[in-house]
Amino acid sequence: MAKRTPRAGAERVDARDKVRGATRYAADDARAGLLHAALVPSRIARGSVTAIDTAAAQRVRGVRTVFTHQNIGSFDTGGFLMGGGFGFQSFHPLRSPQIAYRGQTVAMVVADTPEAAREAAALVAVTCAAIPFVATIDAPEAQPQAQSALLPQPMFADRRAGDAEAALQGAAFTVDAAYELPVQHQNPMEIIATVAEWSADGVLTIHEPTQNAESVRHGLAKQLGIEPARVRVLSPTVGGGFGQKNSLQSHTALVAIAARALGRPVKLVLSRSQLFHNASFRPASRHRVRLGADRGGKLVAAIHEIDQQTSRHDLFPSNGTEITARLYGIGNFLGRERLVRTDVQTPGYMRAPFEHPAAFAFESAVDEMAYALGRDPVAFRLANDTAVDPISGKPFSSRHLAECLAKGSSAFGWARRTMVPRSMRAPDGSLIGWGVAAGAYKAAIAPAIAKVRLDANGTVRVAVGGHEMGQGIRTAIALTVARVLGAPVAAVEILVGDTTAAPQHLTAGSWGTATALPPVKEAAQRLMDDLRQNAGAQAGANGATAVALLRASGRPFAEAESRMRAPGQPEQVFGRLTGGLPAAAGPVYPDFVAFSFIAHFVEVRIEPTTRRIRVPRVLSVADCGTVASLRTARSQVEGGVVWGIGAALREASEVDARYGGFLNADLAEYVLPVAADIGRIDVDFVGKPDTRLNAMGVKGLGEVAMVGVAPAIVNAVFHATGKRLRRLPLRLEDLL
Ligand code: MOS
Repeated sequence: MAKRTPRAGAERVDARDKVRGATRYAADDARAGLLHAALVPSRIARGSVTAIDTAAAQRVRGVRTVFTHQNIGSFDTGGFLMGGGFGFQSFHPLRSPQIAYRGQTVAMVVADTPEAAREAAALVAVTCAAIPFVATIDAPEAQPQAQSALLPQPMFADRRAGDAEAALQGAAFTVDAAYELPVQHQNPMEIIATVAEWSADGVLTIHEPTQNAESVRHGLAKQLGIEPARVRVLSPTVGGGFGQKNSLQSHTALVAIAARALGRPVKLVLSRSQLFHNASFRPASRHRVRLGADRGGKLVAAIHEIDQQTSRHDLFPSNGTEITARLYGIGNFLGRERLVRTDVQTPGYMRAPFEHPAAFAFESAVDEMAYALGRDPVAFRLANDTAVDPISGKPFSSRHLAECLAKGSSAFGWARRTMVPRSMRAPDGSLIGWGVAAGAYKAAIAPAIAKVRLDANGTVRVAVGGHEMGQGIRTAIALTVARVLGAPVAAVEILVGDTTAAPQHLTAGSWGTATALPPVKEAAQRLMDDLRQNAGAQAGANGATAVALLRASGRPFAEAESRMRAPGQPEQVFGRLTGGLPAAAGPVYPDFVAFSFIAHFVEVRIEPTTRRIRVPRVLSVADCGTVASLRTARSQVEGGVVWGIGAALREASEVDARYGGFLNADLAEYVLPVAADIGRIDVDFVGKPDTRLNAMGVKGLGEVAMVGVAPAIVNAVFHATGKRLRRLPLRLEDLL
């Protein structure tokens, strides 16, 4: 494997436990008395259950109960995250005989062992009545509907600046192209698992990997008709979330109900295949991009239209033009999004949910325009940069996309690129292509309450809303607090993903670091200020560490708290935080718009006979404001690049339109890039703090990291071959 950028910065605080296997995940729970659940999936895509025969299942030794809609009793839905509720979808299995999608749970077996539960689940005989269904976004019966008509909120309306249609008519050069992206599934390494346990006094404890412990808590309380105070959710470590774990799942209440009915803790671990059908995924989308440019090489008009798949029961919104409207200074812009109902579980957020597909389409079209004009793709982008948001007219809180492009092209050696397709060859005869693309992602901040406590033995305890999904939030918090208090990083204990420690806002949308770090830092500073004040004019107080000051004071401990919210967010937003609801997803800042930016430079090599596409080299430069933790920031970008390679060249969830559901629902057939597919990845940062957004100057990185990787690859493939491919993932046969 090729050489990697040398690592820098402190090590991850969770690294050793992870590689030793000491980190415990929900599925590792093996307490005494645990019962095990297994789900029975629907084999039809739409209709209803007419009969269930559980006799054979109940004869399996160790089976306790087979739960169906007939015997489970009544319970509420948790509601839909984007519709004022808590769940990834509003529809809830087993509340009725209704079947809304293939793979939906129609029964759940609970037994003494996982083996017995699975064996019995396979023996549950379900009879169904099927009705016609729509399997894909391209089905003849599918009916796209204007999002602006379905969802009245301003953020889902068409995006307009100037008069795009008229400007397009008058443009000297135009591009008009259509792009397709498939359904994809997140496939985090840690599949979803839940352990539910009731205490003798009726308190429910849920252990489940989630990005949104508070929504699990409040959603379950609503579903079960109990007080939120009687539910605690613990999710200290999550083995990858990527949006699939961002809300209440559709099995959690079933496990809680089973545990209550049987008087024992119950564990459910979904299978990899069930993950494809019981949790959210990236919906398919179809894009049409029209661009107009003048003879001087200025983009004068853009129309970006998106059709995106949703479920029949929920409206998962599309929001791709939020970033394509902001990539360049195009005075006449129209963004229009439509939703297409299909019979699936509700799709949802998957890393850069809208931004990756939208950037693929838009940045491919921008490359097409650069070639139509005969302009270098980097120079063309720089010539169309902007300091002002074309949609709102507001300035950017900070914007260093031009620096990302300039820094990246110099480090990549872009000046040595020859413009003409098929003009660069490797010594072995492979076609070489160099491509570039830009990405952006909104810089959002959620409300948070942070508590820092220092004990005289030197232990520092930090509690804040946030979820450790592997992105390194504990490392960033530990480094920040250790610096302020002059404490060793190892002395810092961090409670995140724990509804008993601090209110847990959804960790998503790349707002984790910018949400948790500023209040944590402020609380630590308050604690330090308090200790210094206390020490007064005592000698040495200035250079002393927090623990030295504490000991000198004779107090057993000291603590401090900080509450923070985004600029422009009202005080009531803390009510949403403690109520398990996301702060308005906007965000709408009064004086500016805020986005992170990135530029990706990609080399592809294409074997001339087989057309095998390799990506030996990617170089990415990100503008994410202050880099809080260099090591984890780099690894976020590397992960984003790897995912971009997967999105461009590998990943697609296949549907057989006759049956619905997803065909390749396992890691053997849902093809991901492996280490051998990854070459050199170089990562750099602009590193300029965005102090308009927050005191630490942090913007956010998790998702912008992958925005633009796919179009940079596809643009490189065009440069290598002269073939413009507009459908992901690319197939070798497209190049023959
Ligand atoms: Mo992310 S896809 O907002 O969890």
